[in-house]
Amino acid sequence: MARMNQYQTVTAEDTVLRDGTIKLHGPEGFAGMRRAGRLAAEILDALVPFVQPGVTTGQIDDLVRQMTLDGGAVPATLGYRGFAHSCCTSLNNVICHGIPGDKVLRDGDIINIDVTPLLDGWHGDSSRMYLVGDVPLKARRLIDVTYECLMLGIEQARPGKRLGDIGAVIQRHAEAHRYGVVREFCGHGLGRLFHDAPEVVHAARAGTGPELRPGMFFTIEPMINLGKAGVKMLDDGWTAVTRDRSLSAQFEHSIGITEDGCEIFTLSPAGLHKPPY
Ligand code: MF3
Ligand code: CO
Ligand code: CO
Repeated sequence: MARMNQYQTVTAEDTVLRDGTIKLHGPEGFAGMRRAGRLAAEILDALVPFVQPGVTTGQIDDLVRQMTLDGGAVPATLGYRGFAHSCCTSLNNVICHGIPGDKVLRDGDIINIDVTPLLDGWHGDSSRMYLVGDVPLKARRLIDVTYECLMLGIEQARPGKRLGDIGAVIQRHAEAHRYGVVREFCGHGLGRLFHDAPEVVHAARAGTGPELRPGMFFTIEPMINLGKAGVKMLDDGWTAVTRDRSLSAQFEHSIGITEDGCEIFTLSPAGLHKPPY
């Protein structure tokens, strides 16, 4: 049975409540998310020429921090639950939350860069895959299908649909290619909070979950493995890798449900949606 008070219409003052309800934002929320999302996309656009063999993930992190600050924002990940960096850099078999550091990018690598500028109180959360030099076809196919998973999920994002409809199309597309859909991490509501209700799972049954209503803000961020879906956590407490050491890919957009569909807040202004860029 649907819970009472599952949704709540919010204004500027009550958008930070952590009560598990799904917030329905108004025009000022859309305006705030549009600006934060655009900055996230501009940062991901600007990184393209820097993602080359020889560059370290720490250098990428420095660039993200500088561009975030230059854009008038702060990196929401900096100091988030002890995370000490301005982005996540997830290389090859790393599924998500890779920690920037001394790791040097090599020809043939694939990397996800995930940025979250916090601009005037609103979070723009987005990630893309990047190719380092010459990348084998198998890895490029994984990346293409993962991007298709994200966009198929977004096609489901409109009033009248349910959250499970998003996970269902993502799971069907990934599994049709014999890829594994990661279950341990999911998309999330966001806005003035970085991680809020609801959880947006990427494998689900169609017709299940909360119904989508205008004003809902959330991310869709499928993590798709070339091999099995299993996850292993490294001892650093952050880095999630594929249990079978296979490659993993991810794309993430922040979206808002509108009256007749959705608005993607983190679309690339330069048209750099997916590699090759
Ligand atoms: N940006 C990530 C997400 O999509 C969260 C990163 S939290 C961190 O939700 F602490 F690992 F940076
Ligand atoms: Co996210
Ligand atoms: Co993110």
